[in-house]
Amino acid sequence: MEHVPVLLHEVITFLGPRPGDFIIDGTVDGGGHAREILGRITETGTLLGLDWDEALLAECRARIGGYKNAILVHGNYADLPEIMAERAAALPARQADGLLVDLGFSSEQLEASGRGFSFGGSSKDEPLLMTYDDSRPPVSAIIRELPEDDLANVIYEFGGERYSRRIAKAIKERGRRKPIMTNGELAETVRSAVSHGYERGRIDAATRTFQALRIYANGELDNLKTLLERLPDIVKPGGRVAIITFHSLEDRIVKEKFREMAKRGTVEIVTKKPIPASRGEIVQNPRSRSAKLRALKIL
Ligand SMILES: C[S@@+](CC[C@H](N)C(=O)[O-])C[C@H]1O[C@@H](n2cnc3c(N)ncnc32)[C@H](O)[C@@H]1O
Repeated sequence: MEHVPVLLHEVITFLGPRPGDFIIDGTVDGGGHAREILGRITETGTLLGLDWDEALLAECRARIGGYKNAILVHGNYADLPEIMAERAAALPARQADGLLVDLGFSSEQLEASGRGFSFGGSSKDEPLLMTYDDSRPPVSAIIRELPEDDLANVIYEFGGERYSRRIAKAIKERGRRKPIMTNGELAETVRSAVSHGYERGRIDAATRTFQALRIYANGELDNLKTLLERLPDIVKPGGRVAIITFHSLEDRIVKEKFREMAKRGTVEIVTKKPIPASRGEIVQNPRSRSAKLRALKIL
């Protein structure tokens, strides 16, 4: 299923792309937001679209490659200043008028990447990679190599999972008998480690462990922190930055960094409170339920 862009109207309002602008989409994926931005900047503007997942980028090329002013690059948004320097000849300016980052993973990665992001449904026999880019060690190796205590800490810290110790123990025990190599084997091991009444059935018992391992495997919070440190190199004074987060760990990092920069007088926060999806959007696209948008202007 094609990924549905979240908070599309709100992103456009706060990013405010205008004809002729140079806008960066740091997580371009299938190009949901990018297409709307391209329409606003018109053919006189430039879109630099980045994604760490090469397969998704190829699909994006097929979808928006027709736009001559869309430059699509495989890479990590934490490396944006280097990527922009390498591509300087093709870019209209050293810094952009706006930057959008829509964090986390996409519906297509969950449902069709074949890399073990999903813990249920029909795709139970996928290799346990959970990485966006092949340069990162797969989750199957991470759970094999991390000592039990460290694994429990990862599951607790990045998943908020209170049964982290029990789950880590079960993963290590099962792994000693036979390495866990698929998403289905991991999900089953996690479920068997917790009680039947886990969260009164509200969420699958594997949800938090999968989130934690995905965040850890991709260094997601470190990438975000690096990006935030580098915003003034990426976006010009007067330019806007819009960031969509999907869980409290990410949102806290964005909120605190925005506040710190505002205190130093280097930015102005333009979303006084984080912007959630409207009720109508949540009904149409349940994935938007946990989305929050924060935006700032570089001074
Ligand atoms: C929620 S999706 C973006 C959806 C997109 N805005 C749309 O509407 O079509 C997040 C994307 O970010 C990518 N991604 C995750 N970490 C990244 C990173 N550090 N650098 C670049 N892309 C990253 C993922 O591969 C995924 O395609």
